[in-house]
Amino acid sequence: MNPKAAVLEREPATSDFLSDVIAGLSSDPRTLPCKYFYDARGAALFQKICELPEYYITRTEIEILDRHRAEIASHLGAKIELIGLGTGAGTKTRILIEALEKPAVYIPVDISKKQLRESTGLFQQIFPDLEILPVCADYLQSVVLPSPRRKAARKIVYFPGSTIGNFEPHEATDFLRRIANLCGDEGGLLIGVDLQKDRHVIEAAYNDSAGVTAEFNLNLLTRANHELGADFDLAAWHHHAIYNSREGRIEMYLISETRQHVHIEDRQFDFHAGERILTEYSYKHTPDGFAALARNAGFEFQKMWSDEARLFGVFYFKL
Ligand code: AVI
Repeated sequence: MNPKAAVLEREPATSDFLSDVIAGLSSDPRTLPCKYFYDARGAALFQKICELPEYYITRTEIEILDRHRAEIASHLGAKIELIGLGTGAGTKTRILIEALEKPAVYIPVDISKKQLRESTGLFQQIFPDLEILPVCADYLQSVVLPSPRRKAARKIVYFPGSTIGNFEPHEATDFLRRIANLCGDEGGLLIGVDLQKDRHVIEAAYNDSAGVTAEFNLNLLTRANHELGADFDLAAWHHHAIYNSREGRIEMYLISETRQHVHIEDRQFDFHAGERILTEYSYKHTPDGFAALARNAGFEFQKMWSDEARLFGVFYFKL
């Protein structure tokens, strides 16, 4: 790691975990927002999920990038400014940048300062000619990006990991509109999207046999206990994920084993046995459906690269 890797800090004010938890548990159906999965423990558990045999998403996306890197790079063009959203440790971005022709600027935007520092240090060594401007920010909120010294041919936003699947379709369109503003007239979007497939494959990925996804989901309750002084009894809840084929999405739940009461500050929440808290949607798209969604945000479909089993798609759009 390069200790000199300066990270521009545009972190949001600490989001209001308490009011979001109280609002979510008071709503019908009860919910807890998935953005709270990612404290340090949650981020480490997610890393473990990405390596699970059942969780095909990460390795399939990497395999697609690896196989089609030259063609993807030729679509993106030379001397580009690459804006990476949620690029984390940078494994996928590294594959991409290695294939690009004389990339000018790389702006990774990520909420994890540690990962940004480490990946920037590494990228500065591997790509000494690249201007790298890391930004620590929550890209879900609007972020003002730094102005590079170098003039690039065009801006390309890279949004890997199928994180777009965690948005409901109307939120996804709004988010893609904001991306369109970020990349400007000649810009483009390279985005990883999980595709619809046999429900058993999807459900296995979110109900893994080692129980890591269950730990990841239950960590929300641990977090509420630690940070908000809640009294969730972890042994009285279990994880379950189910594919809703009508909506084309995985729904993750925490399910109460018994009739129980949970206290948070001066509030009491009563749960009956079998009652569920919805914690996450993960939408799976069809190629046409996703192209239409992006079109509503102003993007024109150019190409989708996929794996042999068509589990996952890496889509390229232009404005
Ligand atoms: C981050 N996101 C794309 C993951 C997904 O597959 O929806 C989060 C996740 N939830 C359970 N497992 C992984």
